[in-house]
Amino acid sequence: MDRLVIQGGQALRGRIRVSGAKNAALPCLAAALLTPDAVVLSNLPAVADIRTMVKVLQALGTDATLEPQGEGFELTAKLACTGSDDPKAPYDLVKTMRASILVLGPLLARFGKATVSLPGGCAIGARPVNLHLEALERMGAVIEISHGYIHASVQGRLKAIDHAFTKVSVGATENILMAAALAEGTTVLRNAAQEPEIGDLAQLLVKMGAQIEGIGTGTLTITGVERLHGCEHAVIPDRIEAGTYLCAVAAACGDVVLDRCEPEHLRALLDLLERSGCVITEREGQDGRQLRIQRECGQKLRSKDITTLPYPGFPTDLQAQVMAVMTQACGISVINEGIFENRFQHAMELERLGANLRTDGHTAIVAGPAKLTGCTVMATDLRASAALVIAGLVAAGETVVDRIYHLDRGYAGLEKKLQGVGARIERVGGGRV
Ligand code: EPZ
Repeated sequence: MDRLVIQGGQALRGRIRVSGAKNAALPCLAAALLTPDAVVLSNLPAVADIRTMVKVLQALGTDATLEPQGEGFELTAKLACTGSDDPKAPYDLVKTMRASILVLGPLLARFGKATVSLPGGCAIGARPVNLHLEALERMGAVIEISHGYIHASVQGRLKAIDHAFTKVSVGATENILMAAALAEGTTVLRNAAQEPEIGDLAQLLVKMGAQIEGIGTGTLTITGVERLHGCEHAVIPDRIEAGTYLCAVAAACGDVVLDRCEPEHLRALLDLLERSGCVITEREGQDGRQLRIQRECGQKLRSKDITTLPYPGFPTDLQAQVMAVMTQACGISVINEGIFENRFQHAMELERLGANLRTDGHTAIVAGPAKLTGCTVMATDLRASAALVIAGLVAAGETVVDRIYHLDRGYAGLEKKLQGVGARIERVGGGRV
């Protein structure tokens, strides 16, 4: 099993090109199920979750190819879904990636039936799918759960609904948005999640012929059409990948320009880092927008509090990375996790590196600045792993981050991009340490 070995204490200087957003790419891939025509998706990050989703689509009767793009950190997918008599997303694939549930809405809308494994538990919380199922049932689907699978079917087309989600959910909004695009009548989705990745999915659906109003707001109005067609689409830059590198510079010091990112999607983090004492500048580059972050060595960071919330609130997917930053800030930082019930598993590993922190339920209290010293740490999920890498870049001596298959699910070429800005980080096989 691969590990990352980091020699900490090196300031980061140079440029990093941000890849496409994993969490936009996954629903966009699922949307290819809505049409028999060719859908070409580019700027997909070259990460394990994308390959898993393509395998899921292939299992559901999709001709799919994945080609490397540019320097190899991105991929282009060509997809054409003719369908299968028995569309089934099997447990072996779904258990490795919960986002597989996003095929349920498109399959039901296009083929009138679907069998999808229940995703099961997850390292960051229970993560049920009740909101997805409730809305689909209201659209006329008959849903039965047996032998670990969701068996869903509908007579004729799904019917439009006026539906208020009882909780803001990214995945449920995406699933029902895709289902509504082919449903009969005009669906109104209220209390919809507003994450930029949903806006990107909606833009793809519009290119495919869907009629959607309210994109980017909490109320989406979708007038169903009988058929969607193929198109080409490039997914948006990954705000969480960009945010992770911003946090790395904030914690380890340096001066880095992020190429091809979207600062508008990162307001909550940019505001926090500026108030903490980092200098952030934005400008238009040749290849999209750029963000520059500067924190000179020796310059003090100020501690700040955060509460994670649905977009445009502070993203839960950056909570772990910010916790690593706050270990280096002067004073007390109170971090509240408002989305998931169990997303502090990085805290104990950060403590092993020397962080001074406590967690109690949904709250973590970090006292800084702490002198971090390298050791072997173990990652439990994707963003926790990123936080440990950031702490390793700060820690004196050698830090080994184990179980980096979590990182490989969501970061394209993380160690190569960090090496490019001067970090001493390398990937080694399981035998080395
Ligand atoms: C998406 O997960 C992201 N994944 C997550 O990114 C992200 O952390 C999360 O949104 C929140 O922003 C993808 O986009 C592929 P939710 P999702 O449904 O859609 C509860 C990462 O690191 N809930 O918005 O699964 C749920 O338990 C990952 O890249 C229900 O109660 O998240 C949670 O507490 C991890 N019932 C809250 O809602 C449901 O039916 C928000 O979850 C659905 C969700």
